[in-house]
Amino acid sequence: QAPLRVGVAGLGNVGATLVRILQKDGAELTRKLGRQLEVVAVAARSRSRDRGIDISGLEWFDDPVALAKWDGIDLFVELIGGEDGPAFAAVKAALEIGRPVVTANKALLAKHGVTLARMAEESGAQLGFEAAVAGGIPVIKTLREGLGSARIAKVFGIMNGTCNYILTRMGNEGISFADCLKDAQALGYAEADPTFDVEGFDTAHKLSILATLCFGYEIAPDKMRIEGISGITQHDIQVAHDLGYKIKLLGIAERTEHGIEQRVHPTFVPKGSAIAGVDGVMNAVALETDHVHELLLAGPGAGGPPTASSVLSDILDIARGTRVPPLGVPSDELLPYREAPHRAH
Ligand code: HSE
Repeated sequence: QAPLRVGVAGLGNVGATLVRILQKDGAELTRKLGRQLEVVAVAARSRSRDRGIDISGLEWFDDPVALAKWDGIDLFVELIGGEDGPAFAAVKAALEIGRPVVTANKALLAKHGVTLARMAEESGAQLGFEAAVAGGIPVIKTLREGLGSARIAKVFGIMNGTCNYILTRMGNEGISFADCLKDAQALGYAEADPTFDVEGFDTAHKLSILATLCFGYEIAPDKMRIEGISGITQHDIQVAHDLGYKIKLLGIAERTEHGIEQRVHPTFVPKGSAIAGVDGVMNAVALETDHVHELLLAGPGAGGPPTASSVLSDILDIARGTRVPPLGVPSDELLPYREAPHRAH
């Protein structure tokens, strides 16, 4: 079989980790797949920055759109980030010519996911985005391929590793919010602009992707009630503790008789509950369906290796020629949005 030639745009934490894994494990992956898999080209802002990887033998592109269209690749991987700009232009350029795309970009998908899914369906290209939600947890695969015909009533969970890391350390060690955030940035968990993490927007992006997949309606994050964790104090954590609770930042979307409700906010969760045990950079996504009452998927939610490993799992599916079911692009008819009542989870 012909080799699968991969082009990677964006060499930040996740992009550099992915290139490192593909260079290091390429021979083993090739043996397993029976098909050669190699990174042949990259695009990034700086060519000379030290990322701990050797890119000297790779084709270099300053412009990710040019890479997305280059006929020397079979698969385009977008790890640039940002909801518009070069990431959107490059993903569109690849899908337009029927080229498969793998992306970890939750902001892009939250804003343009339905447009991109429609383009992918029209051109027959695969669009993989496992890494966009909950880092290393295969939640997209579970939703697209693993639940059969189950009807989902509710999806909720911890979807931001940075916030969970901060809340966990504030709770266990009494460390200040600011110091915990600095450590989360140093560990490569936080977004380039950490406001996205701590103000709940990153959780809202991920929740909108999950809710769109779960409920079949296009759910825009700007229609959600969003509250982050920057106002949480040691006093709040202590009060929760004394009452038998932990504070977690949850994203919640559920089907109600009035439509789909979706919201992001810090929530008191009972200490003995499964979700309360999900600490540190771990994420957890709970799905309530009519067949399986509740399913909880937990695992590392941020950081280079877990996120790159989800990108790699999409790449491997495409290399194997696995056709995942179509995304079931939602209808244009939206359920009326209604502000969720303020109430405990
Ligand atoms: N900044 C994100 C987080 C990265 O902390 O969860 C993974 O999407």
